Amino acid sequence: MYRIENKRKLNETVTEMDIFAPLVAAKARAGQFVILRVDGDGERIPLTIAGWDRAKGLVKIVFQTVGSTTLRLSKKEAGEEIADFVGPLGRESETAGLKKVCVVGGGVAAAIALPLARTLFDEGADVTAIVGFRSKAQVILEEEFSRSAARLYLTTDDGSYAEKGNVTTPLKRLLDGGARFDAVFASGPLVMMKGVVETVRPFGIPVTVSMNPIMIDGTGMCGGCRLTLISDGKRQMKFACVDGPDFDGYAVDFDEAIVRNKMYTNFERAAYERACRLFQVNK
Ligand SMILES: Cc1cc2nc3c(=O)[nH]c(=O)nc-3n(C[C@H](O)[C@H](O)[C@H](O)COP(=O)(O)OP(=O)(O)OC[C@H]3O[C@@H](n4cnc5c(N)ncnc54)[C@H](O)[C@@H]3O)c2cc1C
Ligand code: FES
Repeated sequence: MYRIENKRKLNETVTEMDIFAPLVAAKARAGQFVILRVDGDGERIPLTIAGWDRAKGLVKIVFQTVGSTTLRLSKKEAGEEIADFVGPLGRESETAGLKKVCVVGGGVAAAIALPLARTLFDEGADVTAIVGFRSKAQVILEEEFSRSAARLYLTTDDGSYAEKGNVTTPLKRLLDGGARFDAVFASGPLVMMKGVVETVRPFGIPVTVSMNPIMIDGTGMCGGCRLTLISDGKRQMKFACVDGPDFDGYAVDFDEAIVRNKMYTNFERAAYERACRLFQVNK
């Protein structure tokens, strides 16, 4: 069992937790993830490692309540325990040698971008962070980003806070204005990452995207997380859990990934409604 040491609500639907998991904390790197189960009979879900404190043995997760398992997790309090917490899984983000980097995060995936920005910043890189949210009520981790980047651009779709627009608005302005980066990293909704790739493409800057498809075993065995990379006209199948989650943004077949991501929508909706009814009954 794994104890929840701290719990903090970041906004209406996003929760941050520190889990006591010393073996995971000892090896965690930016870009990696864990697979957890809330209860012994629960579903396994992947969540990015959003931070770690090796001395205290803590691993930070930041998750949005979107369905049955994240709802169950959000109901747990500090001091309670969860059944399983396996990791670190996946490959770490490649940061070696990067001097000038732009890290882009959208919505809850800002939690994926943060440890990467922090790692690059600690390695001495000049980090520009761009984070976008639907509106002011969804903004998370602003203070943490301002401590992990030389400059921070924050956007909201509706203009209720900071700059109106999405993450590509300041990104395009910076690039058009002559800013150049050794690399751009993007994490967020598939449509957002595709938008970042298209914005950066004319400038020939490498773009790495963090792919979060449906994962089941997280070990490369089930094929649930497969995605297609297209390079020099050749199609190549990859598994996000073992080959990623980071991939070359220019090679990812986003259109296929978007279709695959919608495959389980009806089933998940039904499971969420069942869990909501369960919590209402238990209130
Ligand atoms: C490598 C990776 C890292 C992730 N990191 C984070 C994170 O840091 N914070 C966060 O809020 N979310 C993250 N996710 C998404 C998170 O796993 C899903 O939100 C979660 O599994 C939803 O489970 P649920 O039962 O609450 O909702 P469900 O009702 O089961 O699903 C809601 C939506 O979540 C996604 N999803 C569902 N099951 C899975 C699964 N097994 N694998 C991947 N996606 C799934 C689907 O898009 C689905 O439409 C990550 C996903 C991956 C693959
Ligand atoms: S989750 Fe099963 S192969 Fe990646």
